[in-house]
Amino acid sequence: MERKIIRARLLSFLREPQSPEDTESFRYIADGGLVIEHGKILAMDDFDRIDPRGAEIIDHRPHLVMPGFIDTHLHFPQTQVIASWAAELLDWLNDYTFPEETRYADPALCASMAARFLDRLTDHGTTTAVAYASVHASSAEALFAEALKRNMRLITGKVLMDRNAPEALCDTAQSGYDESKALIARWHGKGRLGYAITPRFAITSTPAQMEAAQALALEHPECHIQTHLSENHAEIALSCQLYPEAADYTDIYARYGLLRAGSLLGHAIHLSDREIGALAEAGATPVFCPTSNLYLGSGLFDDARLRAAGLVNAIATDIGGGTSYSMLTTLAEGYKVLQLQGQRLHPYRAFHWITRGNAVALGLERQIGTLEVGSEADLVVLDARATPAMALRMERARGLMDELFTLQVMGDDRAVVQTYVAGLAAKG
Ligand code: GUN
Ligand code: ZN
Repeated sequence: MERKIIRARLLSFLREPQSPEDTESFRYIADGGLVIEHGKILAMDDFDRIDPRGAEIIDHRPHLVMPGFIDTHLHFPQTQVIASWAAELLDWLNDYTFPEETRYADPALCASMAARFLDRLTDHGTTTAVAYASVHASSAEALFAEALKRNMRLITGKVLMDRNAPEALCDTAQSGYDESKALIARWHGKGRLGYAITPRFAITSTPAQMEAAQALALEHPECHIQTHLSENHAEIALSCQLYPEAADYTDIYARYGLLRAGSLLGHAIHLSDREIGALAEAGATPVFCPTSNLYLGSGLFDDARLRAAGLVNAIATDIGGGTSYSMLTTLAEGYKVLQLQGQRLHPYRAFHWITRGNAVALGLERQIGTLEVGSEADLVVLDARATPAMALRMERARGLMDELFTLQVMGDDRAVVQTYVAGLAAKG
């Protein structure tokens, strides 16, 4: 039966909540019905107002159904790097991450890891990801092919890197350009797939490669761009040394036309006022990666300062510098990072962020991130009583906000009862 009705409590945000009192910012239906057909949402309403004829009814009561989570920055070839013992970013890259990524020269490994990687995402309630592949075109190919098979929305790109890395992990300005071009032609816009032009970061690209990335960006305004910015003090110093003509780290990317709407800048921690102004003017998107920033000791992302400058921040796991695939765990760590700076991440804003907020940051809010009619039917079914400790906490919950905050602070993949990708159950 093609038409389905999901019966559950439904929650979907209409705009960013301004405070814990801002209950007008979302729709919450206590006994809701979500009608799904051909991978899209046809209706969201009270269950008893929906015509059940000809539909399969899936009853998820008493659980909470939300749009699937969106992870805006993580690394496919770092699935097996998580929990590697390193002091900080550059050691971690050189000692563990680069050697591991060399394995992705093998297309058979890429194919099997792509399936395992996407399984981990959907197990954790994530239905859209913006992922870095490795330098090998075959790694992006494998990830695109696996996502297409699942009809999953995925943005990825082969990493551009032509220096300061093992020989086996370096392309050239020309080969990186050619391979990116071929991948865009083959995959961008196919099914639910999108391409991100992916210069890894300034340290691993020569000026010639940055020019090639600039050409790709100019030729493909439809593509996202992703890179890393201002994560760690040693990284910043080396970047500025390698590009002495740039005013600062951000200016390196600006000089090569890599800052625009749709540019995703992982980390963006140690920025000057000038840099923040430049990012805001370009409409680029800083990406908060709390578990990674804590794990690598990189620093505290100053969400309020960036927002005050008019920036729209995204949030992400950054696997494998990040330590969890869970966007719930990411929110928990994000909450603590902001607490340390006197900022509060209230649960309405938190759940808006990992659904509609990240969709807005990607320019995809008409497709994903809400349960509005016409949206793609990517869903997560959540149980705030998933563990004994959560159930105990929930005995004292006084409403939706307490339930969401329990999920935000204590939740992980155990709280994910089911995930739907384009209307099909995806959690194994
Ligand atoms: N900077 C350049 N590459 C990486 C990476 O793979 N992970 C993180 N966290 N930072 C980076
Ligand atoms: Zn990263």
